[in-house]
Amino acid sequence: MTMTPDTRLDSSGACEGVRDDFPIMRTRFGDLPLVYFDNAATAQKPRAVLDAVTDFYSTTNSNVGRGYHRLGLAATERLEQAREMVRAFIGARSVQEVIFTSGTTHSVNLVADAIGRSVLGRGDEVVVTEMEHNSNLLPWRALCERTGARLIVVPVGPHGSVELADFAAALGPRTKIAAFAHVSNVLGTVNPVREMAAQARRHGALVLVDGAQAAPHRPVDVTELGVDFYCFSAHKAYGPMGIGVLYGRQDVLAELPPYQVGGGTVKGVALNEPVAYLPAPARFEAGTPDVAGAIGLAAAITYLDDLGWDAIQAHDARLVHTALELLSTLERVRVVGDPARDPAGIVSIDVAGIHPYDVGGHLDGNGIAVRCGVHCASAFLDSLGLLGTVRISFAVYNTVAEIERLCQCLETVKPGMWTREHPTVRFL
Ligand code: ALA
Repeated sequence: MTMTPDTRLDSSGACEGVRDDFPIMRTRFGDLPLVYFDNAATAQKPRAVLDAVTDFYSTTNSNVGRGYHRLGLAATERLEQAREMVRAFIGARSVQEVIFTSGTTHSVNLVADAIGRSVLGRGDEVVVTEMEHNSNLLPWRALCERTGARLIVVPVGPHGSVELADFAAALGPRTKIAAFAHVSNVLGTVNPVREMAAQARRHGALVLVDGAQAAPHRPVDVTELGVDFYCFSAHKAYGPMGIGVLYGRQDVLAELPPYQVGGGTVKGVALNEPVAYLPAPARFEAGTPDVAGAIGLAAAITYLDDLGWDAIQAHDARLVHTALELLSTLERVRVVGDPARDPAGIVSIDVAGIHPYDVGGHLDGNGIAVRCGVHCASAFLDSLGLLGTVRISFAVYNTVAEIERLCQCLETVKPGMWTREHPTVRFL
């Protein structure tokens, strides 16, 4: 952590110093500068992350935990330094609670598979919420189909987040695990994670939180939240693609069987003896890890630490409130959910009478990248009664001026090919 506050995210909403850190921000499409508002899908990378990845491959590349030579030892040391950075970033008690995965999807699948082979049986219950991204819905649904357990889906309340009374009503003596998002990837609304975790644990259930959209926008302390598992992806938090984290409470991990087995998970194997697996995290990290990715993630964490959470959250709030104010002046635009309550960098809109892809296409024609459609959460969009939304998602390099430009472009959007020819088609 830096002791002197970084002033690059100043209160003007211009953040020029930060923009210079991101080489891709110089992109232009002819006369049009890139406006990147698709950060909830993946964030851009600062030079510090790009340099850290290149530096590893240029100076230290070697396999880890295996080679008894100086490069192998140096690479191992850097991987373990990255693990310690992640531990501190999420407030875990021990580095043994930090498992590197390929991303949030892998993290959830790992837990679902291990729980299916140890904790869960026919007639048990798994609780999720209506807002889940497919990556925190399908692994549980498949697990229930496989084991004969029951999947219980908690509705989302009028503000676009889970109400504690609804969540409490879904829990019972057969609940073995509750799995839910910290921040909705569709609406940017925030769930009361600490209270939900406490409710679930009173029933003896394990708690897994999908933190993919939270980790880039707010400090996370897994110990204080009281969760058993917390998952996030580096690439949404300015780190590389292909690397993510599964936090697991040490005593819970100790009881879980490995997910994938292979090199690096055992001390040694004798063909006629039972296999003795290593404790976590090694037991859950079969094969060669993404060492450069972990080092890139550590550089992203340093970058976020240097900016400081107070400045990042103030910047997020400024952008969300500006967007809501300007969007409210546009007749056909309706904001879905209530992102103002606790801004987390996402605003989702519906444009009356215009297919979300026509809106996305029009914005792209003006150099503005947003995500439009169902955001890998079609069941949630069904419950909202919407074909899809246009999602505007912010990062530290976005500016108030970019939001003004977005709103000017939204004023001129018209029904196009999708509205006329495929008004009910949706995908993605
Ligand atoms: N999970 C990412 C999103 O919501 C891809 O866009």
